[in-house]
Amino acid sequence: MLKKFSKNWGFERDNAFVNKVLLLCFPNVLVFTILAAYRQIEPIIAVAVLAGVALFNTILLFPLSCELQKIKRYVAKLSSGEVIEGETLKMSEKETKELVNAINNMHKFWAEKNDVIKAKSLSDAAVLDSLPDPLMVIDHEGMVIGANLSARQALGEEITHKKIDEIFNSHNFLNAVSRVLNKESSAETLVFYANEPLASKFYAHIKLLPWQKLNQTQVVIAIYDLTKSLKIEKMQSDFVANASHELRTPLSVITSFVETLRTSAKDDEQAREQFLEIIAEQADYMSNLIEKLLSLSRIELIQDEEPGERVDVRDLVYDIKKTFVIKAKERHMTIKVFADKDLVNAKGDEQQVRQVLQNLIDNAVKYGDENSQITIRIKNVDKIPTSKTIKTSEGRAVAIAVNNKGAKIAPENLARLTERFYRLQEHKDKKIKGTGLGLAIIKHIIIRHRGNITVNSTGDNGTTFTVYLPVFVKN
Ligand SMILES: Nc1ncnc2c1ncn2[C@@H]1O[C@H](COP(=O)(O)OP(=O)(O)OP(=O)(O)O)[C@@H](O)[C@H]1O
Ligand SMILES: [Mg+2]
Repeated sequence: MLKKFSKNWGFERDNAFVNKVLLLCFPNVLVFTILAAYRQIEPIIAVAVLAGVALFNTILLFPLSCELQKIKRYVAKLSSGEVIEGETLKMSEKETKELVNAINNMHKFWAEKNDVIKAKSLSDAAVLDSLPDPLMVIDHEGMVIGANLSARQALGEEITHKKIDEIFNSHNFLNAVSRVLNKESSAETLVFYANEPLASKFYAHIKLLPWQKLNQTQVVIAIYDLTKSLKIEKMQSDFVANASHELRTPLSVITSFVETLRTSAKDDEQAREQFLEIIAEQADYMSNLIEKLLSLSRIELIQDEEPGERVDVRDLVYDIKKTFVIKAKERHMTIKVFADKDLVNAKGDEQQVRQVLQNLIDNAVKYGDENSQITIRIKNVDKIPTSKTIKTSEGRAVAIAVNNKGAKIAPENLARLTERFYRLQEHKDKKIKGTGLGLAIIKHIIIRHRGNITVNSTGDNGTTFTVYLPVFVKN
């Protein structure tokens, strides 16, 4: 019964409360004991008065004590984060009411602060996760205590709680890390090679964090994988090597024929004519190659500037077709154009779109079967096919498909056609003239136009290159 009563009041067995009541009664007990001892008061009355005082103190202190206990439990719940939102304490005593209000206000203030900190740390984590390169924080023992998404993806989800020397085995790198951990230097940068977990060349930036938690050093390590930039460097040097090689070959032909003309064939009329023709041919090839290389670098320079002219593709195709009639006739080929009646205009740089179509039709004439037909279809389409490597424009587009008959191109070769200087062996063997740069130029022009280019090759239907250009929309 007493238990139930205490529970209703929110009162738990509390020795401190009993002690307080006894302490308050103590002066009275002392006074009444002395009075009773000197017979100034009847002992029975003294006991009765003392009982009355004890009851009075209990009645006075009990509600306050109950509410203080409730507050104690409430604060304990607050500090352990167990308080449900909206949960408040109702107090009847003035002092406790004010105390609870103050506690609630403080709780609200810190809860709001906490939300701001949580949001900030979430956004900080999101920013770190969006970095393309691995970033880690290690503690004074070299233990990884934080890693961004890129680090977790590259080095494994379990890198946190691993020691840095369990992740990388490069001595140079680990020495640099320990120099910073030992505060011999505040920051270190170095290039190092790792065999595991990634066989790569890395650039690392190791820095002591300016703030320290509980006097414990923390170090941030940013790592950049240099393999990608090495690849780009290699591509650039390959390109220079290829270009020099392509130029050196005709140049050496020209030099050797000039030498022959000067010496052994000096007086040979017939040989002279023949050699001069070869020299002119090689010189033509060289100027074509130089023109294409310059064109490629010009296009690369303005790759990010999206063109906005209105281009009438149908007119352009008919115009270009005229310039290829003679060349096609030499190979007994015909060129047919089919265009949608309601064809819309494309958005682009007319000069560059002309270059694209000229290159495609030139290829069809050069590499298509003799006595066959080249078909060019121009259509409106709802969207440009997406691509992993090209950022395409959204919405409707104009598609220009150039088809020529001929042997099927194997898929592995098909994928390489837009590489600079890449040419199919069979065409090199047949000595069909070309630099191998036409399709690379087309690709760059298409990227600038936010369009796309696809290629399809089958045994029956030959090879079809389709170029997609976004439609021109009047503002
Ligand atoms: N329509 C096609 N049919 C079959 N093979 C093609 C076709 N178009 C291109 N190719 C192959 O792709 C290679 C690369 O073409 P690209 O247009 O880039 O260079 P090219 O024609 O050799 O030289 P250039 O365009 O400078 O005259 C060609 O050499 C050829 O082997
Ligand atoms: Mg070509």
